[in-house]
Amino acid sequence: MSVVVVGNPKPKSRTRAAAELVVEKLTGAAPHHIIDVIDLGAGLLGWGDPKVAEAKDIVKSADLLVVASPTFKGTYTGVLKLFLDQFGAGELGQVTTFPVMLGGSYAHSLAPELTLRPVLVEIGASCPAPSLYLLDSDYETSPELDNWLEVARRYAPA
Ligand SMILES: Cc1cc2nc3c(=O)[nH]c(=O)nc-3n(C[C@H](O)[C@H](O)[C@H](O)COP(=O)(O)O)c2cc1C
Repeated sequence: MSVVVVGNPKPKSRTRAAAELVVEKLTGAAPHHIIDVIDLGAGLLGWGDPKVAEAKDIVKSADLLVVASPTFKGTYTGVLKLFLDQFGAGELGQVTTFPVMLGGSYAHSLAPELTLRPVLVEIGASCPAPSLYLLDSDYETSPELDNWLEVARRYAPA
C-alpha cells in the first residue's frame, strides 16, 4: 500500500501533486492514501487526537511512503514537523520512505537530505534512496525527477 504525507499549510498544493506523481512513477498507480497534514487541524497541537491517530495508523501500514514538503526558510515546514512529532522513535518500523521537497530555487536543494531525512529516520523510516528536491516551477518535467527515479525504482517495494 502506498501512502503520501504532505506537509503544506496550503491544501491541494503543487507539493502534493509532485508527491502523487512520484508515487505514480514509482509504482505505476496512484497512491492508496494521501494525508494532507493541514486537514488534521488543531488536533496536531496536542496528543491523542482521533483523526491524527487514524492518519498515523495509515502511515504505519504503508509499504511505500512518500513524505513531501515545500521548502520554507531552508527546511521543511512546521506543519509537517507537528505531524512527525506525533510518532515515537522507531515507530514507523522501517517502512520504505522517500523524502521529497519542492522549492523556489536550488539554493536549498540539500534540505530534504539534511533536514527531513534525519527526522524520518529517527521515527523509524528506512530511506534507501537519496532524497528528492524539485523546483516548484518544473517539477513535472524536470530531468532531475527522471534521474532520481532510475535510482529510487530499485528500492520501491514490488
Ligand atoms: C514562508 C515561505 C518560505 C519559503 N522559503 C523558501 C526557501 O527557503 N527556499 C526555497 O527554495 N523556497 C522557499 N519558498 C518557496 C517555496 O518553497 C516554493 O514556492 C514551494 O515549493 C511551493 O510549493 P507549493 O506550491 O506546493 O506551496 C518559501 C515559500 C514560503 C511561502
